[in-house]
Amino acid sequence: MIPNVLRLAVLSAWAHFASAQFNPSQHSWYTSPAADFAASLPIGNGRLAAAVWGSATENVTLNENSIWSGPFQDRLNPNAYQGFLEARSLLQNGSMTDAGQVTLMDMASIPTSPREYHPLGELRLEFGHMEEDMVNYTRYLDTHKGNAVVEYEYRGVKYTREYIASYPAGLLAVRLSASEPEGLNVSCSLVRSRYVIERSASSPNGTGTLRLRANTSDADNPISFTAEARITSDGGRIVSNSTNVVVRGASTVDIFFDTATSYRHPDPEEGEAEIDRKLRSALRRGYNAIKKSAIAEYTSLTGRVGLDLGASGAAGQLPTDVRLQNYQATPQSDPELATLMFNFGRHSLIASSRRTYPTRGLPANLQGIWNQDYEPAWGGKYTVDVNLQMNYWPAEVTNLADMFDPVLDLMETVVPRGVDVAKRMYRCDNGGYVLHHNTDLWGDAAPVDNGTTWTMWPMGSAWLSQNLIEHYRFTRDRRVLRERIWPLLQSAARFYYCYLFEFDGGYSSSGPSLSPENAFVVPAGMAEAGKDEGIDIAPTMDNALLHELFTSVIETCEALDITGDDLDNAKKYLGKIKPPQIGTQGQILEWRQEYEEADPGHRHMSPIVGLYPGSQLTPLVNQTLAAAAKVLLDRRIEHGSGSTGWSRAWTMSLYARLLDGDAVWNHTQAFLQTYPSANLWNTDSGPGSAFQIDGNFGFTAAIAEMLLQSHGGVVHLLPALPSAVPTGHVSGLVARGNFVVEMEWAGGALTQATIKARSGGELTIRVQDGSRGVFTVNGEAYNANNRGPISASAGDSFVIVPVAGG
Ligand SMILES: *[C@@H]1O[C@H](CO)[C@@H](O)[C@H](O)[C@H]1NC(C)=O
Ligand SMILES: *[C@@H]1O[C@H](CO)[C@@H](O)[C@H](O)[C@H]1NC(C)=O
Ligand SMILES: *[C@@H]1O[C@H](CO)[C@@H](O)[C@H](O)[C@H]1NC(C)=O
Ligand SMILES: *[C@@H]1O[C@H](CO)[C@@H](O)[C@H](O)[C@H]1NC(C)=O
Ligand SMILES: *[C@@H]1O[C@H](CO)[C@@H](O)[C@H](O)[C@H]1NC(C)=O
Ligand SMILES: *[C@@H]1O[C@H](CO)[C@@H](O)[C@H](O)[C@H]1NC(C)=O
Ligand SMILES: *[C@@H]1O[C@H](CO)[C@@H](O)[C@H](O)[C@H]1NC(C)=O
Ligand SMILES: *[C@@H]1O[C@H](CO)[C@@H](O)[C@H](O)[C@H]1NC(C)=O
Ligand SMILES: *[C@@H]1O[C@H](CO)[C@@H](O)[C@H](O)[C@H]1NC(C)=O
Ligand SMILES: *[C@@H]1O[C@H](CO)[C@@H](O)[C@H](O)[C@H]1NC(C)=O
Repeated sequence: MIPNVLRLAVLSAWAHFASAQFNPSQHSWYTSPAADFAASLPIGNGRLAAAVWGSATENVTLNENSIWSGPFQDRLNPNAYQGFLEARSLLQNGSMTDAGQVTLMDMASIPTSPREYHPLGELRLEFGHMEEDMVNYTRYLDTHKGNAVVEYEYRGVKYTREYIASYPAGLLAVRLSASEPEGLNVSCSLVRSRYVIERSASSPNGTGTLRLRANTSDADNPISFTAEARITSDGGRIVSNSTNVVVRGASTVDIFFDTATSYRHPDPEEGEAEIDRKLRSALRRGYNAIKKSAIAEYTSLTGRVGLDLGASGAAGQLPTDVRLQNYQATPQSDPELATLMFNFGRHSLIASSRRTYPTRGLPANLQGIWNQDYEPAWGGKYTVDVNLQMNYWPAEVTNLADMFDPVLDLMETVVPRGVDVAKRMYRCDNGGYVLHHNTDLWGDAAPVDNGTTWTMWPMGSAWLSQNLIEHYRFTRDRRVLRERIWPLLQSAARFYYCYLFEFDGGYSSSGPSLSPENAFVVPAGMAEAGKDEGIDIAPTMDNALLHELFTSVIETCEALDITGDDLDNAKKYLGKIKPPQIGTQGQILEWRQEYEEADPGHRHMSPIVGLYPGSQLTPLVNQTLAAAAKVLLDRRIEHGSGSTGWSRAWTMSLYARLLDGDAVWNHTQAFLQTYPSANLWNTDSGPGSAFQIDGNFGFTAAIAEMLLQSHGGVVHLLPALPSAVPTGHVSGLVARGNFVVEMEWAGGALTQATIKARSGGELTIRVQDGSRGVFTVNGEAYNANNRGPISASAGDSFVIVPVAGG
């Protein structure tokens, strides 16, 4: 190896040259191979994913989103129902600690964890190149096109590796090329360290084939899969031994890759036929055609939104890892890093969450779709006490509603499991389903893990219902509402009609439950005073989620003309949910009493879920409650909250809902200074700690929330514009009611906006803090207070212009 100092000098000279081809808002790029997984270039087609390391011997970490650690497990604790009755009774008697212990002993499931998300394996490409002789090296991810490229020169020849994840063709494609004819030698193999059944290579008729067949565990009936790569070249010769396909003397080599798992193809022959069909078709069409259609489709999604928060100048011309470093000291000089992060979030959602009809889709999990570990952090599962919900916060507002489809698929998988758990664990036999704080690809609905601050929380379905109704509010898609969302809402609500009990002066109350994942100090008069406990009756968040759920049911019944018990019950129960309470410091209370918090700086913002993503605590809905939510939020932050990437991202949206743009930007900068790894993935506590995609999605959603809100029946333009972002432009954001919004601002004020009605309906507009009063809509003076809503038809377009001096 050449000395590092020299190497850096050469690289930085090159970096200056290379930067010309990169857009600081669009490309993440580097001048050396990935040092670890969290520096790789992540791409995906929503089902298959690749994380490209760009090393001398190329390493591509491969994933398929239904490769998990095993079959469905019925984990329900046989004592769960008795435990439930006892814990509830103990809570009613004030025996908090004993209640907590009962939930652990008798209600925790056996085993405690659902299935875990697993890697597929790796594609290795051995070029015979020594890293120290690779010069003029760059690799980049294009968040607009969704592809990744590695380029370098080696002994006078330029080498390029290009990686595509094609949604239309349903596969991954790689093109390797050399600038000289016959300049390319490469040996290709598929690698996996566990449960391999077959790993083979062949080269019939001059086409290379790599096959990997594997189970994913030693359980009976494990998930199994077949992966296959077909390799073709321009020039050169393709040979193989038992494990590798070797190409010598080519100018280009193309690789097409697909996988079929037993989750989607229970009959392995049918799965393999599907792979064969796709790979043959790709070979016939050729790499260029596959690439063209993949990028055209990808850019049709990414291109729906354009964001400009100001240009970075020289600071934006540097490689992304250097920008991240510099940002720690001088955040103000690189505003485009926030734009890049916003675009990276949208890229990540498209890459990890696509409809896979006719087979079942799977949503973005804790790591989106990228995972290299057999024991990933928190199992890489679907955690539903904020994380899966957060993954989809950007979907609607950033014009990617179609990416939501796999959530519907997963929830439809959950329902029958949750109906079964509702019956056996709670004796609720009315078609209602329950979901605790995690699920897996089988829809596992039983309690998860074994701790009093997370396990016994029967509210997962209520919180996910919030994402469901938002999908309808944004898209106005009545067919999806009727056919898919309504059955899910109906079943979620039914469970609670059975499960809730009257307590505290007749309020319909949950319990045993908790406020994820915080603890309180048991007060005097309850057993055992002074101990930390998590389990209680009717924590504020449960009430907030039930308020939203019953409201959603009523809204859906009205939209679909549904009457009868479902509507009547929702109305009845909505009136019996305890409203948010305000404590002695003016804060929203977290629990039913003003317990002392074990961690006042807790990362979860559970008690103010009604501020964001809910709307009950927002200023335009109720100023008293919004002020109390702010007290709690400020207090959390003063005590060190925002302490994980996703918590910080949630904080951004919460301040956006409080219409405080400067606070949003403060937390935006803190997020970018603290959490991203080299490849922009969100982490728990900074580079080197666990990767979790939720913070990326929460970040993207929050930037949108800063520029456009629409929860209070009002399309609110620039509600929380930071003073640090005086000038900018955004197009393609979506407001509830299916209005598409484009805005331009300068000097901290809106200069022009266009609102397009995709569905039609009532449109009420507010601009910034509402005090800038006068503006025109299509040339006519507009004042929401005396004019009322505009009645819009699908296709209508409204141009909003502030009146000078108004
Ligand atoms: C709660 O108190 C009631 C009334 O004193 C008693 O009957 C019941 O057994 C107590 N429950 C538990 C679980 O101790
Ligand atoms: C859960 O924790 C409790 C208390 O430590 C213990 O008694 C119980 O066995 C645990 N349950 C499982 C399934 O591990
Ligand atoms: C890197 O590329 C530049 C521009 O093409 C070229 O001038 C330079 O010689 C290359 N550097 C090396 C070490 O090959
Ligand atoms: C490719 O491999 C052949 C045989 O090992 C070797 O002769 C040739 O030099 C190699 N070509 C390159 C460009 O490395
Ligand atoms: C197949 O070829 C590769 C190099 O191209 C080599 O590393 C590997 O050991 C060979 N495998 C066998 C079984 O010969
Ligand atoms: C190889 O080519 C022959 C002749 O065209 C054909 O019959 C055979 O099916 C091909 N084999 C494979 C594996 O494609
Ligand atoms: C994996 O699958 C093979 C082939 O179906 C089977 O024979 C084997 O027992 C399985 N191995 C494990 C560890 O489950
Ligand atoms: C290749 O990727 C795998 C999976 O991500 C990782 O475990 C391994 O460390 C990487 N190997 C190298 C040499 O980079
Ligand atoms: C705001 O919420 C408080 C507390 O729940 C309630 O008393 C008040 O009526 C609400 N105000 C409005 C305008 O809804
Ligand atoms: C955010 O605000 C806090 C408290 O005022 C301050 O200490 C911190 O430096 C600010 N951070 C940034 C990035 O502006």
